[in-house]
Amino acid sequence: MAKIQKIKGFADIFPEDAAVFTRMETVARDIFSRYAFGELRTPVLEKTELFQKSIGEDTDVVGKEMFTFPDRKGRSLTMRPEATAGVVRAFIESGTHQPGKVSKFFTFGPMFRYERPQKGRQRQFHQINAEIFGAPEAQADGELILMLRTFLNTLGLNKLTVELNSLGCHDCRPAYRQALIDYYTSKDRANFCEDCRRRMDTNPLRVLDCKVPDCKALVQDAPAITDHLCAECETHFTDVRAILDGAGVTYELNPRLVRGLDYYVRTCFEVSSHDIGAQTAVAGGGRYDGLIRSLDGPDCPATGFACGMERLALLLERLEAPAPDFYLAVVDNAAAIAAMLFAQQLRDAGQSGEVAYGGGSMKSRMRAANKSGAKVCLIMGGDELAGNTVTVKPMVGDGQQTTVSRAEYLARIKAE
Ligand code: HAM
Repeated sequence: MAKIQKIKGFADIFPEDAAVFTRMETVARDIFSRYAFGELRTPVLEKTELFQKSIGEDTDVVGKEMFTFPDRKGRSLTMRPEATAGVVRAFIESGTHQPGKVSKFFTFGPMFRYERPQKGRQRQFHQINAEIFGAPEAQADGELILMLRTFLNTLGLNKLTVELNSLGCHDCRPAYRQALIDYYTSKDRANFCEDCRRRMDTNPLRVLDCKVPDCKALVQDAPAITDHLCAECETHFTDVRAILDGAGVTYELNPRLVRGLDYYVRTCFEVSSHDIGAQTAVAGGGRYDGLIRSLDGPDCPATGFACGMERLALLLERLEAPAPDFYLAVVDNAAAIAAMLFAQQLRDAGQSGEVAYGGGSMKSRMRAANKSGAKVCLIMGGDELAGNTVTVKPMVGDGQQTTVSRAEYLARIKAE
């Protein structure tokens, strides 16, 4: 029978890599709390219609990439492809919003998209996500981008590109949409890729950020959204930029930045690295003022971003695990239980280390002690068992062995 293997595009994250993920989460918690964000944990499984209604039926995410299946009663469920929709659902369901109140949430966790796996692109991947509800002001978008920059800088990531755009609002976008349709009509439709031929009718803005080279060339001279913004959107965008300029954030204005989710209005942004292969976007986000209302929630503006943890991990060094304090070498099986209990006392006193589960030769135990990288090798055999002692061999320095009572060794550790 064939060995059971993990699902394609899903990964096991072993301790050395998991430590990098933990570091990202620790730094995010620390930085985000300085901006008064609180953690929200939402389910990985939601009703399919939540994503259809929020991300948009015509997006690649909803159209091609969701893990969707019926439950035992035939209701359609979906493994979340992103966090925003679930966070919004939870916020609406909590009923905690009051007009004028600002709420800030961050969330970590696995997301699922049925994409073609490659470096930096998995079917299960992890995001760090931050959302602000209740703030229509440009300051909220500016603050989010500053928070994202502080987070990335604290991780040691300084060489990232920030692209910024405004997508207009429901007032000014229709005229821009029409200008785009007119532009596409002036081109030979057959020269666009199949997806874009469809998008031209359903979602003309999405043609702008198609990655197919022919389409990219064709939209080169397309009208820019930033030339079609209404006065309010213009002011909003100017204010976001003033915050970034004032804080010394370097960014590129990219009027073709649309992003793959339909809920965005006004500000949208993407942070990329050119050091991680073809999948360059490490974070992205923007404003989505109409989404909460469209999901039958209050009329509450919102803005947010998400970072891809696997992509950030590609940029981060693996951390050396700290050296354990001890390796407890059991060289006589008779001492194994006493050794286990002594190791427990050391751990209760705050020390870290491993203990051999049974007796073994001094040679093999010393090899294991060396391999563990421990600062001290503690040896327990028949003599130590009988005398309530432990033999202490420092693994650095002169390596001079001494035998002391276990009680004395423990007292010494506690006094350190
Ligand atoms: P997104 O751009 O779809 O935005 O995803 C955010 C980040 O998740 C990407 O920049 C990328 O780093 C990572 N990512 C996406 N798909 C994959 C994948 N298949 N494998 C590995 N990493 C991936 C959102 O999800 C929005 N919800 C962000 C947001 C929050 N907008 C407002 N609030």
